[in-house]
Amino acid sequence: MKKLLIASRNPDKLLELRELLHGLEVELFSLLDFPELPPTDEDQPGIRENAAKKALEAARGTGLLSLADDTGLFIEALDGQPGVHSARFAGEHCSYKDNRDKALRLLLGESNRRAHFKTCAVLAAPDGVVAISEGIVSGVMSHEEKGENGFGYDNIFEPDPGGRSYAQMSDAEKNSLSHRARALQAILPTLKEIIEIE
Ligand code: IMP
Repeated sequence: MKKLLIASRNPDKLLELRELLHGLEVELFSLLDFPELPPTDEDQPGIRENAAKKALEAARGTGLLSLADDTGLFIEALDGQPGVHSARFAGEHCSYKDNRDKALRLLLGESNRRAHFKTCAVLAAPDGVVAISEGIVSGVMSHEEKGENGFGYDNIFEPDPGGRSYAQMSDAEKNSLSHRARALQAILPTLKEIIEIE
């Protein structure tokens, strides 16, 4: 069976990606299976470049077809922040909660709550990038944390038409409409073609 490496060690992401790839005829691995590989320095100017760097380093380090995603939350009133810096918005070793607190603090009294999540997915083989896709979901930043599910900024982002945060949805519901699901759906036809050829 063809092997596919999910180029991540983030358990929250791995859970979602494994679910989104369910049913695909591949043997799935993640970077947790390759502890000797150093983490990719996500130092690129955009999420597309970071996703490509992660996918290529993983493919070259393991010899496996690799899928990476990079995600950013872009808040209109903050000129697109945290964007590519979403993981370390509140500092180098901050928690998800530190990041959410900072976003809500900066938005205090702000009436424009519009924001979007963007995921870029990249499929790479050791000799180069094979496919790139994007998934975007627009919505609003809530005024306080809502819900317990999910991770990252899920408790403070309400996808359109609004009213409920990602964290108030079941895993299956978030996976049916999320930015990551859209990016995965867009790259899936290429992934399936490669799997069928080999
Ligand atoms: P990454 O660089 O793709 O790992 O994502 C950067 C940061 O964005 C993560 O550390 C999370 O805080 C946040 N993030 C990524 N995906 C999601 C999501 O689906 N929901 C909420 N936050 C997310």
